[in-house]
Amino acid sequence: MTAAPATILRQHLIDPEICIRCNTCEETCPVDAISHDSRNYVVDAAKCNLCYDCISPCPTGSIDSWRNMPADRAYPIAEQLLWDSLPAQIALDQGTEVGAGDTATDLPDDVERIAAASTAGQGGTAPPPWSAAHPYINLYGIHAPAVATVSGNFRLTAADASSDIRHIVLDFGNASFPVLEGQTIGILPPGLDANGKPHHVRLYSVASPRDGERPKYNNLSLTVKRVTEDHEGKAAQGVASNYLCDLKKGDKVNVVGPYGTSFLMPNHPGSNLLMICTGTGSAPMRAMTERRRRKAAAGEGGKLMLFFGARSPGELPYFGPLTKLPGEFIDMNLAFSRVPGEPKHYVQDLLRERGADVARLLQDDNTYVYLCGLKGMEKGVEEAFTALCQANNLNWNALRPQMLQQGRYHVETY
Ligand code: A2P
Repeated sequence: MTAAPATILRQHLIDPEICIRCNTCEETCPVDAISHDSRNYVVDAAKCNLCYDCISPCPTGSIDSWRNMPADRAYPIAEQLLWDSLPAQIALDQGTEVGAGDTATDLPDDVERIAAASTAGQGGTAPPPWSAAHPYINLYGIHAPAVATVSGNFRLTAADASSDIRHIVLDFGNASFPVLEGQTIGILPPGLDANGKPHHVRLYSVASPRDGERPKYNNLSLTVKRVTEDHEGKAAQGVASNYLCDLKKGDKVNVVGPYGTSFLMPNHPGSNLLMICTGTGSAPMRAMTERRRRKAAAGEGGKLMLFFGARSPGELPYFGPLTKLPGEFIDMNLAFSRVPGEPKHYVQDLLRERGADVARLLQDDNTYVYLCGLKGMEKGVEEAFTALCQANNLNWNALRPQMLQQGRYHVETY
């Protein structure tokens, strides 16, 4: 009598060495199979249905990790949470049987095809604008980062402001590190964490246009807020933000990336940008606005409308340069929440106030919307869009999915 063959499961895993803990996979997974602790992102084999929705949005490819395992020996979550690297593929016995959903021989092609289809605007990540330039991603990884030199570190917030936000310029020397407006880069803080392991990568949006912080220089800039408390207001020193904010001119920084294939700007003439941000969420908006400013003479692009929220003018990064931009170049709306003697204003309040103009822009097929900043803002902005559309004979519930599918609605909140 022969024993029944063991069923082999193609187990979906996340490579902890490459993962930059950006949470994209956990947000994307439609069946809540992905979770994390302070150390690792992990996949529950009992929940994962191999839909591949998470594969394409992952900036690093760490999500695209698989091991063939006997179904009854799949790696449990508790074990994955302790990994520093993926285990090697175990040797499988002869006489095993391929389990449901497994396409053991040609999975990589299959994954690409399914993932591409799944991002075509059914929720998840929006495709980039049709006229966006080609983004390069993943040129440098944690085992071979690019080494940049700090060429500037300037405080953007007023001396008496409660937050320390900095404009940090990194020069890549002879290394090729091409970025587009809206992309992010990863910073590797030096030293070890509480577990004696190297710190994880931290992501920052690029604040300068594709041709450099200074045109024709091989440099870029970041907008970094020194983190001194956690989300609940308890004292906590952000590892990467404090490292970056303390950098001096001439210091070397290990950089990985670039990342991001979706939150990119259109390049065709007549394309409008509706930008909504709070605090350091202004980084990609600065990059896009500066790109448009440099290209204005060449006729690239259409209208620019910005909604920007901060506690006060002294807390608003780039307040000085922004307010010097001419009104015919950019329609600027600044919302301040903590100016003594003045009512609290959020970006969503100003969106409502400018409802008719915003609705006019939303009706134009050439309008691209970008949202970046505090997570809480997202709900407020969605409600404002719903209300202002209603007041102007538009239906946001119908427009939103259409804009997502057409790569015209991009959200990055944290
Ligand atoms: P608040 O004064 O209520 O904190 P921060 O300085 O913390 O980065 O925040 C940037 C701006 O975003 C502040 O003006 C802050 O106001 C505002 N803000 C906070 N929560 C929201 C929200 N849910 N929607 C829109 N703006 C918000």
